[in-house]
Amino acid sequence: MTEGRISDFTASLMAAFSNCALYSASHPIVGEFAAKAFVQLKDLYENGALSITLLGEGLVFNNTPLAEMGIHFGSLARKLRRKGIEKIEIREGLSADEFRKFISGMASNEHVLKSEHISVGIIELRTRSDDCSLTAFVEDNLAKIKEAFKRISNKEKLDMGRLEDSVAGLLTTLKKEANVLSILSPVKAYNEYTYTHATNVSVLTIFQAETLGMHEELVCDVGLAGLLHDVGKLFVPVEVLEKQSKLDPDEWELMKLHPLRGARYLSTLPNMPRLAMVVAFEHHRKFDGSGYPGTREEEEKQHLISQMVAISDFFDALRTERPYRKSVGVASIVNLLKEGAGTEFNPFLVDHFIAALTRSNTL
Ligand SMILES: [Fe+2]
Ligand SMILES: [Fe+2]
Repeated sequence: MTEGRISDFTASLMAAFSNCALYSASHPIVGEFAAKAFVQLKDLYENGALSITLLGEGLVFNNTPLAEMGIHFGSLARKLRRKGIEKIEIREGLSADEFRKFISGMASNEHVLKSEHISVGIIELRTRSDDCSLTAFVEDNLAKIKEAFKRISNKEKLDMGRLEDSVAGLLTTLKKEANVLSILSPVKAYNEYTYTHATNVSVLTIFQAETLGMHEELVCDVGLAGLLHDVGKLFVPVEVLEKQSKLDPDEWELMKLHPLRGARYLSTLPNMPRLAMVVAFEHHRKFDGSGYPGTREEEEKQHLISQMVAISDFFDALRTERPYRKSVGVASIVNLLKEGAGTEFNPFLVDHFIAALTRSNTL
């Protein structure tokens, strides 16, 4: 089996998945890519089967581990991780119709179903149960995120798999716990702020995306973008980042570079969704085009997801007590969000966020 053939098959498969999620399983373009992948698949059978196994961050096709994770392999690995799948086995005798059903299952929010010629191995995901309290589950996720942030600070290789598992964990928690505020983590020490805040912004933005009815695939990207929105702060000198009094003008200029530094860092990671870079760059820009960093096109609108992250960011920053100010009550934050609607924040998103919090009995 050559890597070239595996790559061609994976490219067609991913195109079929993404078009299926974008349009519908019956759209001609889905049929076109599915048919192409179906033909390419026939060259990949060994002893009557093709197995695709998720191994750490990488993929193994039958017994061939992929040395380089190109863009399509990275997307497929991410897709499997998000669906909680660790292995797929496709056996000879598969019909085109069975393959199309598999594609539409992979593209949907549903669990992927096995069929006569397809077996799917599911990863046992830890979910909330009697022996694992919600708090323990949240803390477990927080520990993983802390570890990932430490690796970024130390310029070590980032384990995307673990980071995505954490986002999936936050999504699972949110689905089980209606009151979103109860799963936000408190900042116990001032040097915990960066990763605790990142986790909370991720939770709040996943909450917005879920209640807006976004597709699960996008919700995961949104969660990751929320988690990494302030990643550029990890490159700000620690004495500035953790300063317990007001920043002087020079320190403030350094701090204001974090969106650019974060976006630059994320752009160097091969399997990072583009959305994370956009959000890192734009989260301090405002709905009316002001904010920082300025762009050549002052009128340029913030991406919708950056607008959602800006709301989550504001909400979590104010509700957290900092060395230089007290925490702000939720009712006051809601009023401040309303005041900023139309200038700082997207008014539709503000209304939606407040309505969703109210519906979940959070307010
Ligand atoms: Fe920020
Ligand atoms: Fe932030």
